[in-house]
Amino acid sequence: MTIGRKFNFSAGPAVLPEPVLEEARDQMLTFRGSGTSVMEISHRSRLFEEVLDAAESGLRDLLCVPKDHAVLFLQGGATMQFTMVPLNFLGEGTTAQYVVTGTWGRKAYEAAELCGTANVLFDAGPEYRTVPTQDELSAPSGSAYVHYTSNETIEGVEFPYDLLMSDLPVVCDASSNILSRPMNIKGHALIYAGAQKNIGPSGVTVVIVSNEMLERVPDGQHRVFDYRLIAENRSMLNTPNTWGIYIISLVCRWLKDQGGVEGIEKLNREKAARIYDAIDRSGGFYRGHASAEARSRMNVTFMLSDEELTERFLSQAEANSLVGLRGHRSLGGVRASIYNAFPIAGVHALASFMDDFRADNG
Ligand SMILES: Cc1ncc(COP(=O)(O)O)c(C=O)c1O
Repeated sequence: MTIGRKFNFSAGPAVLPEPVLEEARDQMLTFRGSGTSVMEISHRSRLFEEVLDAAESGLRDLLCVPKDHAVLFLQGGATMQFTMVPLNFLGEGTTAQYVVTGTWGRKAYEAAELCGTANVLFDAGPEYRTVPTQDELSAPSGSAYVHYTSNETIEGVEFPYDLLMSDLPVVCDASSNILSRPMNIKGHALIYAGAQKNIGPSGVTVVIVSNEMLERVPDGQHRVFDYRLIAENRSMLNTPNTWGIYIISLVCRWLKDQGGVEGIEKLNREKAARIYDAIDRSGGFYRGHASAEARSRMNVTFMLSDEELTERFLSQAEANSLVGLRGHRSLGGVRASIYNAFPIAGVHALASFMDDFRADNG
């Protein structure tokens, strides 16, 4: 790790791979010898088209995206998708089904309610510690779609499986675990993810959507919210986030070098296990938020006995170059976000720090 950089556990925007930052730095003033930065060229230029191709094919290869799914680069964050999905697919007289396993899933449901009829199919609230098994979920046939959040970033709760429905379109908010493990893309009608955790910088939202779904977009849709029109225009209906897409192309190349999604999954398992082990060995000094079967491999959330001890933990961690560990304001406690680019050395450093802190304060 470069001297001066810290172990950054931020939940998002989050750590990016160092080689990606270095390459972006090296290409900053003159991109591939063009005499201009990638931020300073037309999105319709040949040079940028190559960048877009690299980002799209990178994601397609890594995730094995089938040919009948489009890969789109949008703006407005995952939050905009909370509204765009029902705007396009929740027609009058139909109901959308929401599986709510955390704060983000609840927000997605609330946005859908403003667009039409939405139903909570499963609610893990108010504590959000768990996810349903596939057998616990059955939705009425004829529902518009079933929506779930594959990893709840705030609570640190993750589906250990891809939620699939044989007869209904499945929509997934995969913002905080996309690219961390293989995913059955074909089984999903639409997947969306804000880039700022595992894909790249903030300001880009990746959407992977089946052609079948695109055909369902109603005529007369507002142009900027029209998935079909955006797909037809290869995400260039208007000016895309060119810089963000460039960084995504570099992240994809970096991830391929790590053995792709299969390679990084192994490492992600190892990283998460190291921290959960420190929690489980602590005899209750640290208390994990998620129940065992739903523990997130991306966001490890845990509590200490009181606020004063939590503050001491966070400030001593920071003094040890372990930053970004404060839990989300709605939950409190500690959250260690350990996305793909987070180095395993940082996980070892945190686990050792947790042991030492417990020895001193237990
Ligand atoms: C799972 C999940 N969904 C949605 C969002 C909202 O993303 P954005 O801020 O890009 O709108 C977040 C943000 O952290 C998230 O973690």
